[in-house]
Amino acid sequence: MFDRILVAVDGSDHALAAVRIAAEVQQKFDSELFILCVYRHHSLLEASMSMVRPEEPEVLDDSMAEFAREVVEKAKTLATECGADKIRGFIKGGPPARTIVAFAKENDADLIVLGSRGLGDIEGYLLGSVSHKVTSLADCAVMLA
Ligand SMILES: Nc1ncnc2c1ncn2[C@@H]1O[C@H](COP(=O)(O)OP(=O)(O)OP(=O)(O)O)[C@@H](O)[C@H]1O
Ligand SMILES: [Mg+2]
Repeated sequence: MFDRILVAVDGSDHALAAVRIAAEVQQKFDSELFILCVYRHHSLLEASMSMVRPEEPEVLDDSMAEFAREVVEKAKTLATECGADKIRGFIKGGPPARTIVAFAKENDADLIVLGSRGLGDIEGYLLGSVSHKVTSLADCAVMLA
């Protein structure tokens, strides 16, 4: 049923719950499991926080990519501990929701698994903005943990 599963991770506990579910589904269907963390490019950061003008934007980009890499590694370890295999990790720069949906399309994923919330701490919303956008933009099934 699910040949290629994409689980999107941002370093939050919700995302780790998504990884546990994705790992179970992977084993059930012997799917491929893609783990993706999207980091924001400096140009996007500047657009959203115009007061922040780091002197060395490429260094900032590097550290964001490095954080994303660590987040993916942690998720890979957890998926493996949960018994999953055929796991591949990816990082990409860009706007999170659109990048997740584009990645799913490019790789022919038939299921996207996400946390319902993430690292953001705004209370009073049931869904984070990324989970909200991905559920409305994706062509394939989306599961929220
Ligand atoms: N940058 C990202 N890269 C990959 N997956 C992400 C990223 N951001 C969020 N996600 C996925 O989406 C889920 C929901 O996170 P989301 O960002 O929507 O909630 P939030 O952080 O609580 O709210 P908001 O970001 O709107 O303040 C996360 O658990 C994770 O699975
Ligand atoms: Mg968030």
